[in-house]
Amino acid sequence: MTATADIPKVELHLHLEGAAPPAFIRGLAAEKGVDLSGIFGADGGYAYTGFVDFLRVYEAACTVLTGPQEFYRLTKAVLEQSASHGVVYSETFLSPDFCGNCDIVAWREYLAAIRQAADEAEAADGIILRGIITPIRHFGPEQAKLAAACAQDTAGDWICGFGIGGDEMQGKPKDFRYAFDMAREAGLGLTAHAGEWGGAVSVRDAWRDLEVARIGHGVQAIEDMALVQALADAGVVLECCPGSNVKLGVFDSWKNHPIERLRAEGVKVTVSTDDPPFFHTTMSSEYEHLAEEFGWDEARFAEINRTAAEAAFCNEETRARVLKKLETAA
Ligand code: HPA
Ligand code: ZN
Repeated sequence: MTATADIPKVELHLHLEGAAPPAFIRGLAAEKGVDLSGIFGADGGYAYTGFVDFLRVYEAACTVLTGPQEFYRLTKAVLEQSASHGVVYSETFLSPDFCGNCDIVAWREYLAAIRQAADEAEAADGIILRGIITPIRHFGPEQAKLAAACAQDTAGDWICGFGIGGDEMQGKPKDFRYAFDMAREAGLGLTAHAGEWGGAVSVRDAWRDLEVARIGHGVQAIEDMALVQALADAGVVLECCPGSNVKLGVFDSWKNHPIERLRAEGVKVTVSTDDPPFFHTTMSSEYEHLAEEFGWDEARFAEINRTAAEAAFCNEETRARVLKKLETAA
């Protein structure tokens, strides 16, 4: 089998700030004279005790991403990593909350810097990046509307999706319906984190109340086989991040992760890293685990990547380029 790093990959679920290498954040903190020592462990990696603490550490790391230039540098660093693991197309979650607190003029400047870095990475490594605007659930519905206004302002070929991340146990999906309607009217593809912590019912609620085409994680749907069947029948795509789930304790081991059972039931599953350095993972490492635990081979990975390319929120011209990158390498 081809080395896992050499398999061309499509990644649909990657938080840009969550992909910041710890050394990158430490370097920015030193430049700015900010003491972030509390978020790092003895090994130099991010240190947290569980999901809610992970969100705290994540937000603390974001405090040194103070302007467009920092996001330019972050995007370059992240895409270099992704490309080294064979990623040919990536959709990244971007939160205007961390880019000038949802001020539209500031957001445009941050986005211009991120896109400049993406253009340079594409010219250097061929990797294609697109953005999904992502409000944060525990910041509340009113803040989400501000992010949706940023989404409306910059929707197009590059900002092609809208999602929601953050603490799934705060509020209900329907609280965010207005923001999602704004995004839908702007023509954006829709996804929502659900079924990472809130069980099958949260997948059902997000799907029904936000009318999303994709679910971030969604893996707890496995608790309700009628829901699994409905997801399969409707062709809803799950952005599975098994390494993230195992590290955060959603499932106690790779062996017990439901990605293969969901796939076997006909659900469209895809594979992503979520926040790679936080979870000590990479796309290559995810693939190695999937090959080891579930016997996934090159044909299976090719199928999963085609599913992901078909579910990408980019325009058809970009999708054709991505499919070509998958085919030519096969
Ligand atoms: N879940 C929810 N919100 C997030 C995550 C996640 O895994 N990563 C960054 N924000
Ligand atoms: Zn996520």
